[in-house]
Amino acid sequence: MTTTSTAQSGAPDLWHHYGRARADTDRGVPGAFHWVWAQAGGPGVEVLGDVTGLVVADLGAGAARHAAYLVARHAPARVDAIDASPAQHTMARDLYGHLAPCLRTVHADATAHLNAHPAEYDVIYSVFGSLDFADPRRLLLAAAHALRPGGLLAASTLGHYLGGAPAEPDVQHADIPARTPDGATTTMRRWVLQETVWTKLLDESGFTKISIDRLPPAGPGARAADTLLVRAYRQS
Ligand SMILES: C[S@@+](CC[C@H](N)C(=O)[O-])C[C@H]1O[C@@H](n2cnc3c(N)ncnc32)[C@H](O)[C@@H]1O
Repeated sequence: MTTTSTAQSGAPDLWHHYGRARADTDRGVPGAFHWVWAQAGGPGVEVLGDVTGLVVADLGAGAARHAAYLVARHAPARVDAIDASPAQHTMARDLYGHLAPCLRTVHADATAHLNAHPAEYDVIYSVFGSLDFADPRRLLLAAAHALRPGGLLAASTLGHYLGGAPAEPDVQHADIPARTPDGATTTMRRWVLQETVWTKLLDESGFTKISIDRLPPAGPGARAADTLLVRAYRQS
């Protein structure tokens, strides 16, 4: 399959375990595109508009299920499924290698990749991906750089911390629990920001027509959470 690798890090892969059990049993292309935390219901692929013939990037694509859905059902020119985790990159190649070359798995830090590809993409999206886990000040500037003028950025991110604590009123990350590949406990950075903070960041990064919708969970549950669905366009 078409795949590129530019990620260089000696740090342990804190996404080694994520989605591993599912990949053993669920190898199909999903039948729908979901933005919300529960990955069921809510707005779907229409949020991206018509992607026929467009060049698209998924930031923090994980196993590339969303990217595979787009490629299999919506005829983009190409979807680059970008992920910094060696484990996630390998899983994506294993699951959806048959969708190359339209689906291209890219093993890279999202910010670095976007900075290296000016005006490459018509659409950039992220589903609880690198927008949540990379410094948004740098990532959003890079996303504006990598979008063609007028291009769309769409992303889902948490509306509050899991457990209910409110989102941050400033550009401030939290250190959340994580596990190394050998099971040791550690932390990783996550940015959970209020709508006004995202709006200001997007505005300062060169985006316009910014909208943010808060999507509450369909029902209660220990891991139910509000989703913020962010949409913005690169200034022309
Ligand atoms: C919660 S998972 C979401 C994966 C996928 N979007 C999904 O919905 O299943 C977050 C993903 O973001 C990736 N990620 C985190 N920081 C990243 C960065 N700076 N560059 C690229 N990928 C990153 C992780 O490796 C992980 O696969």
